[in-house]
Amino acid sequence: MTEKQTWSQRFESALHPAIARFNASISFDIELIEYDITGSQAHAKMLAHTGIISPEEGEQLVTGLEQVRQEYRQRKFQPGIDAEDVHFAVEKRLTEIVGDVGKKLHTARSRNDQVGTDTRLYLRDQIQHIRQYLREFQTVLLDIAEQHVETLIPGYTHLQRAQPLSLAHHLLAYFQMAQRDWERLEDVCSRVNISPLGCGALAGTTFPIDRHYTAELLKFDRVYANSLDGVSDRDFAIEFLCAASLIMVHLSRLSEEVILWSSEEFRFVTLKDSCATGSSIMPQKKNPDVPELVRGKTGRVFGHLQAMLVIMKGLPLAYNKDLQEDKEGIFDSVNTVKACLEAMTILLREGLEFRTQRLAAAVTEDFSNATDVADYLAARGVPFREAYNLVGKVVKTSMAAGKLLKDLQLEEWQQLHPVFAADIYEAISPRQVVSARNSYGGTGFAQVRQALVTARTNISN
Ligand code: ARG
Repeated sequence: MTEKQTWSQRFESALHPAIARFNASISFDIELIEYDITGSQAHAKMLAHTGIISPEEGEQLVTGLEQVRQEYRQRKFQPGIDAEDVHFAVEKRLTEIVGDVGKKLHTARSRNDQVGTDTRLYLRDQIQHIRQYLREFQTVLLDIAEQHVETLIPGYTHLQRAQPLSLAHHLLAYFQMAQRDWERLEDVCSRVNISPLGCGALAGTTFPIDRHYTAELLKFDRVYANSLDGVSDRDFAIEFLCAASLIMVHLSRLSEEVILWSSEEFRFVTLKDSCATGSSIMPQKKNPDVPELVRGKTGRVFGHLQAMLVIMKGLPLAYNKDLQEDKEGIFDSVNTVKACLEAMTILLREGLEFRTQRLAAAVTEDFSNATDVADYLAARGVPFREAYNLVGKVVKTSMAAGKLLKDLQLEEWQQLHPVFAADIYEAISPRQVVSARNSYGGTGFAQVRQALVTARTNISN
């Protein structure tokens, strides 16, 4: 058997070099190397603990694996293509270091349960990292929101001016989305954190292993109850990609708003130089590249979710090599989500400024107080639908006359309906329009202040 050959003596010739390259995953699963080492150390300890190997052998394996880790960190060990995958690479290097005892490591284990273990350990860590990024993002949203309780911004439905809002209320909507993302990831993690180690190739093993022992060493919450399921389940990956996709949906919606807001048509925000780029030809331009990239990168995360679903849909039990295709999508999604959360956090923290004067002007130049006129009448006994029709009429005539509701004379109001009094002007002022929406979860200032306190408590716990 040559050095290179990993397979049993059933094989007579080596792989075609192109097929070896096609088959290999080392170029990307190297990302898992530290988790592979940690998983192998737990496995070695378990083998010794159960008497499958001697305590000395267990010790040698654990120490040897630690040396592989150090060599990797110091870049002395840089496995190449001949290793096929990270699992073979580590085992081979281990055997070079500790000698023949290294060949005992793979007792009672398969790469199938091994790779499942590694991927879960990786994802469990990364989920916690992403949750920290989410917290940072929430913190900056909250910081800005707290400064803008009384800053008004037009609120839209159908991208048509609808009713004015507290800017804080608008930002807190994104805070809430991020809060669900944060909670969702915790929930996903409860199904990521299940140990497949010891499921073997598919059927378990003839050795008296202790799966609960390795699970405990690796801080898994539980073990897979069925070995076939354990080695072939990728629900956890799909769930993660789904949660990642939702994070991207939220970031992308915010991005779209920032892009709109920074346009000449809206002028609600100014982009600072540190987070905007110019055009190579049009000197007047300042482009919102950051939110555009975030919006654009959303597509790749959705793509990875779709790919994973398709990979799984026709797979017969148990492991199939198709499953090697899970990793790049997971890694890329993790990296993309982290990069986008970081970029959006920086953009919000220092890259954009709300143009408060422009916003204040914006909320006075439209008919977004029309509902409040209807509410005014309804609160004074006019049935709402009747009030609604009356106001529709006055909006129409005002528009034709090039006037806004605030420009109407009291007599004009009273011609429309006798219950109108001088307090109609206050009732339709933007500040009052916002302030009055004091129903739970609404944009009224008192509600928003309460929501900010709750949000702050939430993230500091
Ligand atoms: N590199 C493989 C993967 O990522 C490891 C598992 C290989 N198992 C096998 N039966 N060929 O899925």
